[in-house]
Amino acid sequence: MKCRNNPRSLVVPLRRIFNPSPSEKEKMLMNWPERVWIYSPIRVFFQIREIREWLRLVGRAETENALEIGCGLGRGAGLLVNRMGFREVVAFDLEERLIVRAVKSNPDSLKQKISFYVGDAQDLPFRDSSFDAVVNFGIIHHVLDWRRCISELSRVLRPGGLFYFEEIYPPLYANFLMKHVVRHPTEDRFSGTQFLEALASQGLCLVDGVRLESRFGIVGIARKSSA
Ligand SMILES: C[S@@+](CC[C@H](N)C(=O)[O-])C[C@H]1O[C@@H](n2cnc3c(N)ncnc32)[C@H](O)[C@@H]1O
Repeated sequence: MKCRNNPRSLVVPLRRIFNPSPSEKEKMLMNWPERVWIYSPIRVFFQIREIREWLRLVGRAETENALEIGCGLGRGAGLLVNRMGFREVVAFDLEERLIVRAVKSNPDSLKQKISFYVGDAQDLPFRDSSFDAVVNFGIIHHVLDWRRCISELSRVLRPGGLFYFEEIYPPLYANFLMKHVVRHPTEDRFSGTQFLEALASQGLCLVDGVRLESRFGIVGIARKSSA
């Protein structure tokens, strides 16, 4: 029986379908200029703004557990507990040293609520419908097979569960200036239309009120259809 108050019990043995090669991994990880941005306190300020938008759309989470993909230093996971109201968060990143830092800096008060592991968003080691929510603070544009990532996160989300996302598009991260500053995969990237189509193809339907007007990115929520 699944014990919902212990996130570790949700983990099933790793299925190594995807095991990125060192060169593939390198393409997905942050370079140093992006690290400066992601490690800075300003990043947390932006995450808080994104959470405010999610709260505007659906209110505080009444759900029990959430999976955060590509959690970086893990500060977002703390915000998900403290500001969104999740009772448990499982968070992971492809880069081991970020997870080491996330575990070390996770305060004692959150240790029972947040667990971290090193993993790949293209291959989630969880049973179908394991989570009430999945959260993406801007990582899918880093993932080589981003369609597979969306398919995987939808698979582990229960019917009726929510996918909370902040995502950015090439006009922001791959424009003339930025493509020389930050490193991202360059092939088969997605526009806003392609991102939303990929969500829909996995049964993830936008909740009412999501703002769609920006060509640079989106902060929104999609619900997994029950059918
Ligand atoms: C722009 S950073 C965002 C970090 C964090 N979510 C935040 O908002 O501060 C992108 C993160 O995605 C991670 N990442 C990239 N590809 C990944 C993959 N396939 N699986 C898991 N994490 C991945 C990177 O290591 C990096 O920490």
